Amino acid sequence: MDGNFNENDLSKVINADKANVWHHLIQHKPFETNDPRIIVEGKGMRVWDQNGKEFLDAVSGGVWTVNVGYGRESICDAVRDQLMKLCYFAQTAGSIPGALFAEKLIEKMPGMSRVYYTNSGSEANEKVFKMVRQLAHRKHDGKKTKILYRDRDYHGSTLATMSAGGQDERTAEYGPFAPDFVRVPHCMEYRKHELGLEHLSGAEFGRAAADQIEEVILREGPETVGLLCLEPVTAGGGVIEAPEGYWERVKEICDKYEILLHIDEVVCGVGRTGKWFGYQQYGIEPDFVTMAKGVASGYAAIACCVTTEAVFDMFKDDAADPMSYFRDISTFGGCTAGPAAALANMQIIEDENLLDNCTAMGERMLNNLRALMDKHEVIGDVRGKGLFLGVELVADRATKEPVAEKLGQQVVAECGAQGVIIGVTNRSIPDRNNTLCFSPALIATADDIDAITNAVDNALTKVFG
Ligand SMILES: Cc1ncc(COP(=O)(O)O)c(C=O)c1O
Repeated sequence: MDGNFNENDLSKVINADKANVWHHLIQHKPFETNDPRIIVEGKGMRVWDQNGKEFLDAVSGGVWTVNVGYGRESICDAVRDQLMKLCYFAQTAGSIPGALFAEKLIEKMPGMSRVYYTNSGSEANEKVFKMVRQLAHRKHDGKKTKILYRDRDYHGSTLATMSAGGQDERTAEYGPFAPDFVRVPHCMEYRKHELGLEHLSGAEFGRAAADQIEEVILREGPETVGLLCLEPVTAGGGVIEAPEGYWERVKEICDKYEILLHIDEVVCGVGRTGKWFGYQQYGIEPDFVTMAKGVASGYAAIACCVTTEAVFDMFKDDAADPMSYFRDISTFGGCTAGPAAALANMQIIEDENLLDNCTAMGERMLNNLRALMDKHEVIGDVRGKGLFLGVELVADRATKEPVAEKLGQQVVAECGAQGVIIGVTNRSIPDRNNTLCFSPALIATADDIDAITNAVDNALTKVFG
């Protein structure tokens, strides 16, 4: 390990953690007998734990975040310099990095125009929901309050974003939820039998899957629906790319019924799929784009809710009306470390050609994983875009019956034993937590990719024979 490492200090840390930290998304009973994992240090694609064990991180900080890798001096320097100059002022005023990052971001997003700063993906999504509700009141006589979200998609951990939660095990026990959030079916080709569309394929299937959104709109009443909120590629719901034909039809439907389109880029945003944004892979023209994780690769907390000028204009139409603007604030949306880090993060992606690397390494990884299908009957499907990939594990390829959730977790553990951290969908969708998840940093080399897929190969052999 690179840094100074004092074993005595670390046992103190572990005790403090066990006594006082409530970890995210994990059961704590096992920590009565085992130690939690403490990640001490990171460099490039690698991290080290409290025992000095080195891991190749194939999930960019656990949840597809550290897109440019660990230990980036230029980002750290930019954040430090900015904090010394001005750490914070509320976003009622502007800041130098806030203005410069907004300009640079909008250059990458033709058609979009305004950046609203917040500090988490959930919060950015809630901003969109609030804007849509306000527009419903001001422009549509209190109608068009309904927000459509898709089965298997995830938009955050707050109650409003859980109300738009398409993962029943994530939302279970946290209701009741906010009214006027309505679910539309998923569009997953591998499981199209669940949609009654098993007789269709390709673009025909894609259009038919989107038609099911229109059916929901017609059932609810188009005059009541204000927003359609979708992930460009569903992340924690199983790494699901929409089929061919889907997005064109979604656009037709949104135009026809005057429904705004919100693309949640919290995972795909800033390079993950090989373009700046996932929606740019599919020619989508959104009204809202939200982003968080990869915006500053985790070096500072920053999230953005980006709108078109047309949306922005609807909030500034009457200077004489004191209620005629978006009456909202995010305190930490005024932290300057976020946009300072985001500027340096984007510079790295440009200087090092990381979008191209992401595309090339993504293809290599996809091919490696597909090759494993010949050897491992348990792999039912391999899918994804760029360095954002999933491997669905099934007990039977013909029936597509998923393997038990604990078997996917065993594969993760076996990879961990070989020094490779991968992910698996967990406690999200009943009987569908069977997709291994991969999201290595965009700096991954061919050797890194091969090391990851070799570890998966070994782990599958160990768990399934
Ligand atoms: C697609 C998507 N949207 C929103 C969120 C919520 O982001 P945050 O945890 O920053 O609130 C997540 C988090 O995993 C996500 O995957």
